[in-house]
Amino acid sequence: MARYSNSFINRVAQANDIVEVVGQFIALKKRGREFLGLCPFHDDHRPSLRVSPAKQIFKCFVCGAGGGVFQFLMQYQKLTFPEAVRQLAERAGIPLPREQTPTQADQSLSREQLVKLTTFAARYYREQLFSEAGSATLAYARRRGLTEKSIRRFGLGYAPDAWEQLTRAARKAGFTTRQLLAAGLARQREDGSCYDRLRHRLIFPILNLTGEVIAFGGRALDDSDPAKYLNSPETPLFDKSANLYALNWSRQAIVDSGQVVVVEGYLDALMCLQEGLPNVVATLGTALTDRHVRLLSRFAGDVVLLFDADSAGQAAAQRAIETFLTQRVNVRVAAVPQQAGGQDQVKDPCDYVLAAGGEAMRELVARAPDALEYAWQRQREAYMRAGTLAEKNALLEEFLSLVVSCSAYGAIDAVHQGLLVAQLAELVGVEADGIAARMRRLARQVRRATAPTPQGTYASENPQHRAERWILGALLNEPELFAQVAGKVTPAMFEDPALRAVAEEVWQLAGSDRLELAVLLSTERGQELGVLITDLQLDAERRGQLDQTVQDATEVMLRRQQERQLAELKARRGVRDPEVLSKVCERHRQPDKGRFPGAR
Ligand code: UTP
Ligand code: MN
Repeated sequence: MARYSNSFINRVAQANDIVEVVGQFIALKKRGREFLGLCPFHDDHRPSLRVSPAKQIFKCFVCGAGGGVFQFLMQYQKLTFPEAVRQLAERAGIPLPREQTPTQADQSLSREQLVKLTTFAARYYREQLFSEAGSATLAYARRRGLTEKSIRRFGLGYAPDAWEQLTRAARKAGFTTRQLLAAGLARQREDGSCYDRLRHRLIFPILNLTGEVIAFGGRALDDSDPAKYLNSPETPLFDKSANLYALNWSRQAIVDSGQVVVVEGYLDALMCLQEGLPNVVATLGTALTDRHVRLLSRFAGDVVLLFDADSAGQAAAQRAIETFLTQRVNVRVAAVPQQAGGQDQVKDPCDYVLAAGGEAMRELVARAPDALEYAWQRQREAYMRAGTLAEKNALLEEFLSLVVSCSAYGAIDAVHQGLLVAQLAELVGVEADGIAARMRRLARQVRRATAPTPQGTYASENPQHRAERWILGALLNEPELFAQVAGKVTPAMFEDPALRAVAEEVWQLAGSDRLELAVLLSTERGQELGVLITDLQLDAERRGQLDQTVQDATEVMLRRQQERQLAELKARRGVRDPEVLSKVCERHRQPDKGRFPGAR
């Protein structure tokens, strides 16, 4: 990656006023201390993009886009970070540093170069699909129900039935073996030579939100092939747990409707798009992760899971429900009917939309019951079918746990829970009190299990994570507050990985006396974390009382660290040393000011 020094990047940032830069592309109107305009990152009808000259940041309160001047340009013109820096340097008339040219090796594996290669590959595969060699595959795609228009729109391709076709073509175009390996397009034999990863397959290019090709999925054309789909491995461009297929095409419709439909397969997604359900995304051969959920929740508050009719699809829905419960998103689940349009072989959303049409599909989505309701229906059926008492008991327990987790995370309220208890009591034929007692017991277990969640996301809002966010937010608003935390809190004490990354940058900048929002946003890490950073800053600003927040949050974090140290000590044999133990206990027992909301 073309690396510019921090001081150079900082100079460029200082020389470009964000209001002027954004104002080049969008009409901005002054409103108080800020400027307002139509957000270019979603279909905005009322100005929701805010640009702050004081803080040099922008934020859209509808689609969540935000960041500093570099992020704006990166997203608006689809540039990489170094490209944005270069462009803004040129705009301000700052000469690019000469000796800063990175080494050949670094440069060739940069994100920019890898995207060039994946873009080349996508074009190559597409040419193949429309060539003689691809004719059978093109016919296959049509037979599956894709129109020629869709085939072109979604950039489908064909990976030829040979070992080194793409590899050879890419080399001829000037790409290297190392690049082919790094982009996940080739694999290496023991003797060091390379061959194409995807062969004789229908190719689905996977694009990121800004429309760059980052990976490929390939469907076998021969049903005897043991791997129906083969996907790119994780590469510097491609992170399966953070990307969703088709989001680049559906993003606008998702933001407009406030709703997103999640399916499991490439073809499910494409067929929905083609047949008139435009707000659809697909997972990429992995389970839904909380990162997916966070990504989606930036675009829509209403999520509909539309999984296959078979038991694997149902199990996937069940897992996904649990992932969603811990996030503040409204989840519903639609089951694909096994018969539709005179066909009784319907197995997935793709089949369904082809058999029943787009209108029926939209109906199905609109009528989807909420996740808990869905889980209840399924559990009730299973309960009725269960033969033994032990089986029935296990099913009941399973469902009760789900209900308990739901209320622990605030996903359902007391009334809803009361209703479920009554329904359950009737089904099982016991007193509602008995059910309620069982739930209370489970609730205690859930609380114990969820209290310290080091791997939790910041949405799960435990006191530690809240403290982490609040400290960072306060520091981003008032850098002078750093003196209060310096020497007490360290980045290593941050448990949330994303927040820890922000903390590392913040601490580093504070150490060199340059802790400023605009500077932070223009570091390389800072630009990746731009949305999180602007959110942290704005959250804290909205809450105010930064001084107090920092004090209270510092205490929460110190206490948490002591707990951790104590646990470590106990885990070691050294605990038997009474002196050490009493010292630690002493520190641990320090008076609890306990004003920090949620701190227990
Ligand atoms: P499905 O088996 O349901 O395939 O897998 P599909 O999308 O319906 O495809 P068709 O209709 O049989 O052609 C759903 C998704 O799971 C991933 C792919 O992302 C696929 O789209 N998958 C499936 C794999 O990654 N590898 C596999 O071998 C199978
Ligand atoms: Mn399927």
